[in-house]
Amino acid sequence: MNTIIVDMKAGIDEAAIAQAGRILQAGGLVAFPTETVYGLGANALDETASGKIYRAKGRPSDNPLIVHIARMEDLYRIAAVVPEKAERLAEKFWPGPLTMIFPKKDCVPYTTTGGLETVAVRMPEHPVALALIKAGGGFVAAPSANSSGRPSPTRAQHVAEDMTGKIEMIIDGGSVGIGVESTIVDMSGDVPMILRPGYINREMLEETIGEVGTDPAISGEDTTARPKAPGMKYRHYAPKADMLIVEGEEARVVSRINELVEKELKEGRMPGIIASEETKDRYVGGIVRSIGSRMDELSISRHLFGVLREFDSQNVSRIYSEAFDTPVMGQAIMNRLLKAAGHQVLEV
Ligand code: TXA
Ligand code: MG
Repeated sequence: MNTIIVDMKAGIDEAAIAQAGRILQAGGLVAFPTETVYGLGANALDETASGKIYRAKGRPSDNPLIVHIARMEDLYRIAAVVPEKAERLAEKFWPGPLTMIFPKKDCVPYTTTGGLETVAVRMPEHPVALALIKAGGGFVAAPSANSSGRPSPTRAQHVAEDMTGKIEMIIDGGSVGIGVESTIVDMSGDVPMILRPGYINREMLEETIGEVGTDPAISGEDTTARPKAPGMKYRHYAPKADMLIVEGEEARVVSRINELVEKELKEGRMPGIIASEETKDRYVGGIVRSIGSRMDELSISRHLFGVLREFDSQNVSRIYSEAFDTPVMGQAIMNRLLKAAGHQVLEV
């Protein structure tokens, strides 16, 4: 298949959006930018179309997709029960990096929901995404636009690496603003529950609707529990190289990583280091990448997946990373880093 790449970095191209909308309505696949990561879109109400997403990504068929909408009234067309708390969250955070889960209506096919009776819904905050959703008929199923198991794409180039030849179109909207996927909250039970941490954290949710729980399988309290979001059980975001997170007081972290790196260099290997703006000049060898500044959390989340991809292409022998327990997005950032590292952490 010939994959068309359309440049919308400078703004919306109406003719190309209309063309992308026709591709979606005809059952094809279009990758597009959102404020979190790039999505791989298909018509969510067409089971043949959403089925193609699983094939293009190599995604297990029990891993449900998020349905993206552009108008609040469309929520009621696919969700059977919308609690008042969900309406308050939508009012406050949509469009934005929040996905909510509801009992589904019959019009949503099981291929879209991975066989579940519930549907995940999000209204993204990106002009290109909103225009595309409207042009495509209002309901766009979209997982992150990476091959299953690879880091999520934060630039169109990442999408092209994984999807060229497999989908009809990629819309290039430049680099994303947030860089980690949306917060997922299950609204189908008594107490709303966070199934995946993101930019919108528990405190922000609780300020709006009161008590919110966190799935024990992702909070780290229970490492044997099975996550309620099926996708959270896979070893996502996995870089090719083995990865170790070194956690502790900054000076000790830097000196321990330096020791580990020196040993590898002596043995003829080339490791990568995930550092911060504040520490990057204190490493003595290896391939050092600053992920961002500890004074600006978004600079860290925005570069996280890109740095992992870069280390993949450089075939580093191992990745050593500092921990980034930042105030607002710490849980979301560490959730992705811990997964990438297969939960290997060294306390110093
Ligand atoms: O920021 C985002 O959410 C991005 C952009 C493109 O919008 N999308 C995204 O989709 O991250 P994906 O497919 O990579 O992750 C969706 C997650 C998976 O972990 C999946 O298991 C979970 O949402 N999920 C979807 N529907 C669900 C449902 N009905 N119940 C529980 N978990 C669900
Ligand atoms: Mg994903």
